Amino acid sequence: MSESTTLEGVRPAAATAQSQTRRALIKSFGCQMNVYDSQRMADLAGLLGYGEAGGVEDADLIVLNTCHIREKASEKIYSELGKLRELKEQRRKAGRRTTLVVAGCLAQAEGAEILRRQPAVDVVVGPQSYHRLPELLREAEVRSGVIDTDFPIEDKFAHLPASPPEAVARRGVAAFVTVQEGCDKFCSFCVVPYTRGAEASRPAGAVLDEIGRLASAGVREVMLIGQNVNAYHGLDRAGRAIGLAGLIAAAAGVPGIRRVRYATSHPIDMSDDLIAAHRDVEALAPYLHLPVQSGSDRVLASMNRRHRVSDYLGIVAQIRAARSDIALSSDFIVGYPGETDADFDATLDLVRAVGYASSFAFKYSARPGTPAAEMDGQVDEAVKAARLAALQALLEEQRQGFNGACVGRRLEVLFEKRGRREGQVVGRSPYMQAVYAEGPLSLIGAMAEVEILGAGPNSLRGRIVSPAS
Ligand code: 5AD
Ligand code: SF4
Repeated sequence: MSESTTLEGVRPAAATAQSQTRRALIKSFGCQMNVYDSQRMADLAGLLGYGEAGGVEDADLIVLNTCHIREKASEKIYSELGKLRELKEQRRKAGRRTTLVVAGCLAQAEGAEILRRQPAVDVVVGPQSYHRLPELLREAEVRSGVIDTDFPIEDKFAHLPASPPEAVARRGVAAFVTVQEGCDKFCSFCVVPYTRGAEASRPAGAVLDEIGRLASAGVREVMLIGQNVNAYHGLDRAGRAIGLAGLIAAAAGVPGIRRVRYATSHPIDMSDDLIAAHRDVEALAPYLHLPVQSGSDRVLASMNRRHRVSDYLGIVAQIRAARSDIALSSDFIVGYPGETDADFDATLDLVRAVGYASSFAFKYSARPGTPAAEMDGQVDEAVKAARLAALQALLEEQRQGFNGACVGRRLEVLFEKRGRREGQVVGRSPYMQAVYAEGPLSLIGAMAEVEILGAGPNSLRGRIVSPAS
């Protein structure tokens, strides 16, 4: 089925007087996939007649699109729900109704447990079934505690309305497009294969149609996203198999699209054609997020990562041969069960060997139902904290070094929005850095060459040296 623009049984916005006054807040936690899903849920809410709320205060429908990757992420949601329960209760006394929805990975993982811990929740909906939100909300009007955590056979994307051009324009010139979901890798620490299900790829035609609509509404940069995006294996319009490299090339060819990115990739799916795309596709930004997790082969084996340190370094060498200026980024876990000081030192060695532009490091968090949670050798919190601090210090030093090395260079910047100061605009370099420059707001959506004059802790500053295009 093609991606529809209308929803059966859904009243168009503004159909009733009441519809103009109701507002929805979709609050996104966690990863980029959730940001994308939240936008699609906002589109659905729009079709149901909800305007966009500025915050919880003016929201009649509140959706928490949750994350379950680490324990902290889940606990944060429960504490947020506690506050929302009070708000809902106060409003109920004043005769105003509030609908609370828990969506995303926590919803998928805990389902009915959420209603038990927080009965004020009206709807629990998993990441594979949120296209059913309109009917679930209708059901919630007549009974409390509606749950849908199925992995329905129908294609969620085929049932989602296309984002209205005004909403796309409001969201900015850089957009996420989910092209692949789920994961079959089963790293021993990770909940994703359980919360997001098996790997599945969207048809290339549907993805390209969506990118075309985004571009028509002003989007200039797309990031193709998936839990394992480089495992993408879709079908093109002629029914032939197409991988991520082919999809990137096709996305780069969509009129209006100036830049393409992708995330997140698994080392074992870094195919030769994808590496070659970094050499051949001009619009593909020279930035690669390639999580390695650990620099110890022993830990990698226990994590079921299916690659060794040497494999990873080999891929890094290949990618640098294809695109010498590529900026690399990674995720790391410290304090994985059984990780010794020597294992951790090996991670520091790997970081020194690669040299990252920016990275994320996390303390291992035992997740219920994953193999690592049951393993012997759980590492003491204080040891985890010390290792995290040491790794983050090294990664930060590399990030500052990378940013500092950009001073004096000329970088192509895609301008995204007004800067902090009057007369300033801010955009992104090919390497994902925020770049501030003096210039008119008409630059938003345009690319210009910027001479980098300085590097601050979180951004670069520069001077526009070419006419915008
Ligand atoms: N504990 C800590 N970090 C984790 N990640 C995934 N699962 C866990 C966990 N149980 C990290 C990995 C992954 C990133 C998205 O989150 O580094 O790449
Ligand atoms: Fe989780 Fe590993 Fe899959 Fe990434 S590749 S989502 S870390 S199981």
